[in-house]
Formats: sequence, C-alpha cells, structure tokens
Amino acid sequence: MPYRTIIEPFRIHTVQAIDLPTVEEREAALHRAGFNLFGLHADHVIIDLLTDSGTGAMSSEQWAGMMRGDESYAGSRSFYRFESAVADLTGFSEVIPTHQGRAAEKILFSVMVTEGDVVPNNTHFDTTRANVEYRGAEALDLVEPSDPSEILPFKGNMDIAALRATIDDVGVDRIPLVMMTVTNNSGGGQPVSMENLREVRAVCDEYGIPMFLDACRFAENAWFIKIREDGYADHTAKEIAQEMFSLADGCTMSAKKDGLVNIGGFLAMNNHDLSLQARNLLILTEGFPTYGGLAGYDLEALAQGLEEVVDENYLRYRIRSTEYLADRIVGAGVPIVQPAGGHAVYLDAKALLPHIPPHEYPAQALAVELYRNGGVRGVEIGTVMFGRPGDGDAPDEPAPMELVRLAIPRRTYTQSHIDYVGEVVIEVAQHAPEIGGYRIVEQAPWLRHFTAVFEPIEK
Ligand code: F0G
Repeated sequence: MPYRTIIEPFRIHTVQAIDLPTVEEREAALHRAGFNLFGLHADHVIIDLLTDSGTGAMSSEQWAGMMRGDESYAGSRSFYRFESAVADLTGFSEVIPTHQGRAAEKILFSVMVTEGDVVPNNTHFDTTRANVEYRGAEALDLVEPSDPSEILPFKGNMDIAALRATIDDVGVDRIPLVMMTVTNNSGGGQPVSMENLREVRAVCDEYGIPMFLDACRFAENAWFIKIREDGYADHTAKEIAQEMFSLADGCTMSAKKDGLVNIGGFLAMNNHDLSLQARNLLILTEGFPTYGGLAGYDLEALAQGLEEVVDENYLRYRIRSTEYLADRIVGAGVPIVQPAGGHAVYLDAKALLPHIPPHEYPAQALAVELYRNGGVRGVEIGTVMFGRPGDGDAPDEPAPMELVRLAIPRRTYTQSHIDYVGEVVIEVAQHAPEIGGYRIVEQAPWLRHFTAVFEPIEK
C-alpha cells in the first residue's frame, strides 16, 4: 500500500451516543463518587478507558452468529462451533467454556494447586494472583527487570535464571505449573517473545512441570512477535498464535479481550484426566460442560471473535492505534511506560507528579484530573491498588510504580476520540505542579481500589 495512514479496517454500523457532561457536572459526579472513578455512572464519562475487557464492539458477523445461537442445554451446536474454533487455534484437545477468565483460573488452580505451592508467572494479573493465594499458595512474579522508560521489544519476558533459581530453591514438587501471561497486562501490556516462551518450555520440560498461558491478549502478543522478532515477519498472526499455544500444556482465557466478546472465557488443555476433574468443578459453579456459564449465542459470538481477532488488518490497526496515542503523549514530553503496550498506554504519575508522595496517591490524583478536565476515565495502578495500608497513622507501604492505565476498548473509538484523549492528557500534564494529593477516608480490607472514598488534601 503506498499510503502511510493505517485506517480502521471497519465501518460503523450501529452507534451509541456519548453524553457530553459539562465541567460542573463532572465536578459534581466526582464529589458524589468520593473521587473514586469506579463510582462514576458511565453516562458521565466521555471517553471510557477504564478497561479493554468486555468493552469492545462486536462485528455484524458476531451479531448474526448470536441469532443462530443454539440454546440446547446439552450438546448445543454452538458449543461444537466454539470448541472447534478453540481447538483449531490452540491445538488443545480439551476445551471447557467458562463465563470469564477468572472462572477458568479458579477451576484450574483448584485442580492443580495445593497449600504451600509456588506458582511462577511473568506477572500475575490481580485475579490470577488472588486465585493462587486463595489456594494457600504463593504467586511469584518473575518478569525480567527493566526500567519504565527503557525501550525494549519484549519487556514481558520471564527471567529464565530467576525461574531456574526458584525451582532449585523451592523444589520441583512444590511447583505445580508455570504460567506465562501474554501480553503481560500488569507489567505494562508488554509482549513475550517466542524465544522466551521456548526457553520457559525447555526449563519446564527439564523438570517435568506443566506450562500454561494466560492467553487473554494472545493475538496482540502474536502481532508483536511478527513485527519485532527475527524470523516471524512472513508468518501469519494466526500461525504465530498457534505456535505460541503449541509450546504450552494448556491455557486460561478471558475472551473479553482477544475473544472480541462482551462476556466469555475458557480453560483448555491436553491432559484428559485433569480436564475431567475440571469439568466436575465446572458443573458445580458454572454449568454443564457444553455451555459453562454462557448462553449458546455467547459461544457463537466467541467462535467468530477468535477468527476475526487474528485478521492482520485488524491487528495492524489495533497495535498502531495504541502506539499512536503513546506517540502523541510522549511527543509532548509526558512520561509513560515505554514502549506502548498492546491494549493500553500507562502514564507514569511518579515521574509526572514528583511533588506528591506515594501515600498521597499521585496516580489517583492524575486519574481524577483527567476525568475532571476532559471526562476521560482511566484506572489507577499504584499505591491505591497495590500498596498496603500503614499501621495506625503510619503512611501506606507504596506500590513499586504509580501508573494510570488508559486501556483502549477494541473497535470502539475512532482516531478523533484518541486525538481528544491525547489533548486532555497533555493539557493536564501542563498543569502538573498544581495538582494535589488525596487521602483515603474509607476503605475495604481487600481490593480497596474498587470502593475507597477519597478526599483532596488542601495545602
Ligand atoms: N488475566 C489477565 C492478564 C487479565 O488482564 C484479566 C482481566 C484476567 C486474567 C481475568 O479475566 O476479567 O475475564 O475474569 N483483566 C481486566 C483488566 C479486568 O481490566 O485488565 P476476567
């Protein structure tokens, strides 16, 4: 193609109006929500970048598939279409539908992990960590260390020496599986290279440990491999994804990301005995093994989504549109985790707001300011989410980073929406020295970020 502009490879068929709340309405909404963006009514948000999970637009083919959904309790035709789409992509022989990713995690760890075990991952997502810890096991993050501003192609890679050291230290008997999260969401949406997946596989083979993928964003990871890793430029994204899956013994999947659906997930593996145990648990909580907590029409949409997500025109546009936002922000000198992730741009609030100490929540302050100034909703990933409250009057124990994630829903916003977000971020950054911190006045004993109530600190 002789033209440089990468266009959205779709046209818009159905639209939803965005309300444009005024500054005064946004201010009032912030006060009502206790300065917690999870407490906002979505109607009061102009551009919602809280998450890329379940927030994307489905295609007309997916909607058409939903009309063909077979709602038979057992053996539905939609299940078999879903099963063959997953098997074609992953090569796994046992395919178990679940209502979303964390349900697959809960079942997998219930059948594989026991008290005192250790589960290594590049970086656990919070529900994955919580499900490992719920089993009385330790969730260990072994991503290769790097600096947020460092530009490297595969910052999601696992530190192989650390993995070996962990196995030697803990003992192979206490490591029931190794997980690899592609892309590495909690580590900035950064990809894992095929070489690194192969190395992890080799270590797992050496010790006889199963390896599973947390595959939520497998297609975005495959595209990064295609454009960044030697030897993959001529492979299709689907072939690369198939090769990634071929290195693993199984996967958990939140299809709300690269399944291009609003709800759904699955657990897949090759081990038949383990799959029988998993299906027994599935029946207890999710439903019969041919629907697993989903409607027949959800399975149709998911089967179609898995085909559309490896379309290279889609992936080229997807990864470029995230990078486009990052380029604008970085071009104005605003610090972010480099390079852009596949699904999100992570603003570095610690670097932008050095005058706000971690226990006054710089990333929360930045997230609130983006909403106040432009109605843009991101999510704090810093001391509110991952810090620990101090004893008595002691300040919180800070998180390692203070980030605001701007996650981009799939096929939902156009380039002008993204231009607008860039403008808001740059405007807020220009007034960074005037932004003040917050204190928490109410919080839950765990997962406090969802419901905490904040108050601005007057200086
Ligand atoms: N694993 C990863 C890497 C995730 O990012 C998520 C969800 C899950 C597992 C759990 O999947 O929500 O379907 O149960 N991430 C969303 C986010 C919520 O905003 O990043 P789920």
